[in-house]
This record gives sequence, C-alpha cells and structure tokens, in this order.
Amino acid sequence: MLGAIDRDRFEVIPVGITREGAYILESDEPSRFALDPAHLPEVVDNGTRVLWPESTASRELTVTTARPGTEGSDTRSLGAVDVVFPILHGRFGEDGTIQGLLELVGLPYVGNGVLASSLGMDKHFTKTVLEGAGIPVAPWITVTRAALAADPDLWQRRTRSLGLPVFVKPARAGSSVGVTKVSDWAALDAALDVAFDEDGSVLIESGVVGREIECAVLEGRDGAAPRVSVAGEVVVTGRDFYDFEAKYLDAPGVELVCPADLGDGELFELQRIARRAFEAIGGQGLARVDVFLTDEGFVVNELNTMPGFTPISMFPTCWLNSGLSYPELITELIEIGHATGAR
Ligand SMILES: Nc1ncnc2c1ncn2[C@@H]1O[C@H](COP(=O)(O)OP(=O)(O)O)[C@@H](O)[C@H]1O
Ligand SMILES: [Mg+2]
Repeated sequence: MLGAIDRDRFEVIPVGITREGAYILESDEPSRFALDPAHLPEVVDNGTRVLWPESTASRELTVTTARPGTEGSDTRSLGAVDVVFPILHGRFGEDGTIQGLLELVGLPYVGNGVLASSLGMDKHFTKTVLEGAGIPVAPWITVTRAALAADPDLWQRRTRSLGLPVFVKPARAGSSVGVTKVSDWAALDAALDVAFDEDGSVLIESGVVGREIECAVLEGRDGAAPRVSVAGEVVVTGRDFYDFEAKYLDAPGVELVCPADLGDGELFELQRIARRAFEAIGGQGLARVDVFLTDEGFVVNELNTMPGFTPISMFPTCWLNSGLSYPELITELIEIGHATGAR
C-alpha cells in the first residue's frame, strides 16, 4: 500500500507497532515490508515514539526521538492527521480494539467500526449473526477446553454428528493460523490442541464440498447500498486447503482466479448475499466476503473486515477486475473513512 498510494494526494505518516505495543515512526520505504518467505518483515523498535493527540480537540501526532548518549529526547510534530488507515490483521488490529482506541482519541479511520470488527474477528459470533439474518452457513459447534473436559461424551456425540471431514479452527485467529482439516476422528484431539493454542474458543465445522469463492465489498457512498466486486476463486489443487503459506508466501498448490467462472445469475446471487452479510454485521468501509459455492447454492464461510492487501491478495485483485485500480481503491477507502469521521 505504501508503494501504491497516490502521493500527489496523500502525505503518509507510516506508524509501526512493535511486539511490545510501542507505536514507532516507521520507514516509508515499501521494500522494507516485502513478503519474503525467508525473512518476514517485522517492526523493530527504533527508539522513536509516536504519540496520540493530547485530546479529541486535536488531531496532531507528535514523535519523540531519543537523543543518543543522553537521557533526553527530541519532540517534533508530525502534523494533523486526517484519517488513520489501520492496515492490521488479527488480534488488536482487526478485532475492534485499535478501532476503539481510535474512537477514544477522536481520529477518523478507514474501515469497520468496533462492533463489525469484533464480530468479523470471531467466527462463532459471525456465524450466529449470519444465521440469524437467514444467510446460509456450514453447520458447526463451538467448544472450550473446560466444556470438553466437563462432558467429553456429549461433545464426542455432537462432534461426530457433523460427519467427516470437519475443519477445526480457533474462533479468533485468521490467516488460516491454527486451522486443521480432520479426515479421521483419530486426528481430532491434535487438531483441537493446535486450535486451542490460538484461542480458548474453537469451532468444529462440517467440511463443505464446493468451490471457494470470494468477493470484495465497499461501503456505498452517501447512504447508497454497498458495492460488490466481481468474484474471485481460490482453486486448491496440490494442498489440503488454503493455508498460511498459500495466502502470503505464494506457495504452490493454490491458484487465485479472478474473475471466477460464474454464470450471471450466480454472480448476481453472490453479490446479493455478500451485501446482506456486510449489512448483517454492521459493516463499514470494506470487507471481503468468503463463500463456498455448493450444489445447493452459496454458503458463507466468513467475513474479513481488514482483508489482505498484498499484491497477490484477493481484495485488490477483485476490485482491479471490477475497474478500480489499486491506487484508486486506496483513495476510495481513505475518502470513505474520512467522510465517516470518528464514530
Ligand atoms: N467448513 C469448511 N469446509 C471446507 N473448507 C474449509 C472449511 N473451513 C475452512 N476451510 C478451508 O480452510 C481455510 C481457512 O479457513 P477460514 O475459516 O477461512 O479461516 P481464516 O480466518 O484463517 O481464513 C479456508 O480458506 C478453506 O480453504
Ligand atoms: Mg478465510
């Protein structure tokens, strides 16, 4: 995104978050963040600290820089911020927490608010809300370690009734982290362990037989209905499923095809479901809606409230094939976020 954003229109203040949660002034050099499988980029503490505005009456960010060899530091203004683009995945990034922080400090931001972000992050509650809105989802149960331990026989019966294969996934993770396809009940416990390592709440879901289709949603302008892109398809050939390596590291065995080969009626139906799903979770800004196309129609898998934005990611690719270039897409998202203001 750093490489694609329209520099004639926008001045970028790149802020990184370290593992310890320090906000630092980052490099504006896109190559710093290239997704090299051998060396995934990491935010390294460079001694700077980006400070939030001192009250909601201000939108000014400041940065302090440690003065080498002294206890002191230099402070300078980074200017008044118009809008924050939280380009973050997962916990603390996509789950409503950073969105809540931005609300508190009074900075407008791109994308979904607190509620839609936390709903989208949690597969159990996403599915509960979608089901409530009459949108088809795959049968599933949600377990915790304590519940499993309390009545193993009950959970075994409930699990077996889903039939094989099942997908075991942490309720809140993403990027396929902690997800296992289980084709033999003997492998269930190991899969649960892997998922429980990521979250205390785990879904066991019926495996869906169908094509994996995704589409991209943008909030409508001035109260208009959400806009939905053409569809993309994840074609899994040489792998078990669409895992982390395939998503980010371009590992072989998965091909992204966009536009997906769908009939007009199918695309229309998909776009209708995606719009309803986006509205059901109270979506704002953007989302990628992931579905399976089965013999009985579309089944929604999940919504991603801050979808991948790498050059191989589906969200920008779907918009590219719908007539919106990557720089135009970024501009559109920033303008929507800016127009919405702090929520
Ligand atoms: N019920 C299911 N049936 C078939 N494949 C599934 C199912 N659930 C997940 N998968 C496969 O696992 C991948 C990751 O699961 P997903 O629920 O999308 O989690 P994440 O949030 O990590 O992307 C999916 O893209 C798909 O390939
Ligand atoms: Mg997914």
